[in-house]
Amino acid sequence: MKRRKTMKTITINNQSFDIDVEEDMPLLWFLRDRLEITGTKFGCGSGLCGACTVHVDGVATRSCIMPIGTLAGKSITTIEGLSENGDHPLQKAWLENNVPQCGYCQAGQIMNAASFLATNKEPSDNDIDQAMQGNICRCGTYQRIKKAIKSAAYDLAKEA
Ligand code: FES
Ligand code: FES
Repeated sequence: MKRRKTMKTITINNQSFDIDVEEDMPLLWFLRDRLEITGTKFGCGSGLCGACTVHVDGVATRSCIMPIGTLAGKSITTIEGLSENGDHPLQKAWLENNVPQCGYCQAGQIMNAASFLATNKEPSDNDIDQAMQGNICRCGTYQRIKKAIKSAAYDLAKEA
């Protein structure tokens, strides 16, 4: 009996998609070119800048170096799926603190911070520095990013 080939699927922002591309295509290109979900940005393409950060099963992951074929059955969250109305405490804190300059790195910054705050409810300055050190901002918005993360951590603690 012939075995039926099963199409691999992936969940992105709670929607299921077939992996109908070469399995070595980076997740970033699957998001941007195949699905036209473009909030996640291309920076270095080498896992070095953090602009392309998304969550894979809740963990901050660089989508530019993550082959789509390894992600079958996993749940991906992009900046578009972080909260239903764009009102995650980090997104609110980003607005309140007027964080972005050109904005290019900011989706990756927020996704990295969200994954970090999910595991550290009371981060020290040093914890934030450590967690965010791999996310590069060419505009130098680091001080405002830090302020926003501290403020979001405070708000999340109040909600808990
Ligand atoms: S674009 Fe992925 S880490 Fe730079
Ligand atoms: S705001 Fe311009 S690269 Fe970060």
